[in-house]
Amino acid sequence: MLFDEYKLKNLILRNRVVMAPMTRNQSPGGIPTSDVISYYARRAKAEVGLIITEGIEVSHIASSAYPNVPRLDTNKAREGWKKVVDGIKNNNGAVIAQLWHCGGFRKLGMQPNPEVPGYTASGLVKPGKKVAHEMTLQDIKETIDAYASDAKICQELGFDGVEIHGAHGYLIDNFLWGGTNIREDSYGGSIQKRSQFVSDIIKAVKENVDDQFIVGLRFSQWKQHDFSAKLASTPDDLKKILMPPVEAGLDFLHSSMRRFWESEFEGSDENLAYWTKKISNIPTIGVGSVGLDSDFIDMTAPATPTSIDKALDDIKKQKYDLIAVGRALLSDYEWVVKMKEGRLNDVIPYTKDALLNLY
Ligand SMILES: Cc1cc2nc3c(=O)[nH]c(=O)nc-3n(C[C@H](O)[C@H](O)[C@H](O)COP(=O)(O)O)c2cc1C
Repeated sequence: MLFDEYKLKNLILRNRVVMAPMTRNQSPGGIPTSDVISYYARRAKAEVGLIITEGIEVSHIASSAYPNVPRLDTNKAREGWKKVVDGIKNNNGAVIAQLWHCGGFRKLGMQPNPEVPGYTASGLVKPGKKVAHEMTLQDIKETIDAYASDAKICQELGFDGVEIHGAHGYLIDNFLWGGTNIREDSYGGSIQKRSQFVSDIIKAVKENVDDQFIVGLRFSQWKQHDFSAKLASTPDDLKKILMPPVEAGLDFLHSSMRRFWESEFEGSDENLAYWTKKISNIPTIGVGSVGLDSDFIDMTAPATPTSIDKALDDIKKQKYDLIAVGRALLSDYEWVVKMKEGRLNDVIPYTKDALLNLY
């Protein structure tokens, strides 16, 4: 099943393997280079079913926190992305752009506007630590508008859809999590209200793109700065978080786990992707150390290729629909072909060297 076609909305994917979004910091000035273009084309040629791009900074004054991350707000950047899309499509691939706002990971002094601080729901970057700008309703509106207009640009460039990055402690996750969202207006105060921001983003995006364009949401329990944090401790809480954005019109959910074989809630062996699909009943992607023997804790730690029997079994049983693969596809762009042909021994192990180049 993993290597069979899958229909995501009206898009036919060659197989159910997704390239996970991975920041590469190799787009100076926000512009994808020719190396970025060939890096994605190479993976499309090697049969990756769906490519989700590295996080693209949404066109908002405070979205950036890392150097050389691609953007959409200049002609040159858009021309670069058009070539990325064409390179993938010319190799029969499918591509979704990940839209990213770094929220509280931004610090004063960072480019491109050093005087702009990090923006968060309540000024908190983690529980009890208030060093960021608390977003006003006007800030919220401007940010929602930025997602909507960037999604439209992505549609014009030929992307098949967008994935809203709502995971890992960045801006949207900062709103979703009770540890960092202590607002008392319509964007905070209860689990459902903490989902209002992302629901508004999804609604605004949907209104700005056509019906065929795919809109998904990536979310996680864990935060970049707190691996044990949880948005939801029970399936019921997870339902309260996920249903408002689902009802806003999402086409898929992407459950970001660190170890996809781990149980999510007490009393069940099933993982977060299983619960996501069960609750939402929409196409669901699972991710987290698929095909590797080491956890996703430290991206510089080496990892050895392993069997993907558990992932194959989960997809066969339709616990969720698609599997995203990150580091394994960085170290070996032919991972899909090799796994499909049962050539596990030929897969190139992951080391931090894979982060250095765009091959
Ligand atoms: C170099 C690198 C960059 C990443 N950048 C992003 C990103 O831009 N957006 C995102 O949602 N996740 C990002 N992640 C997380 C991956 O998408 C994925 O969830 C994680 O690597 C676990 O999958 P894996 O075990 O198959 O590598 C990144 C991971 C790596 C290794």
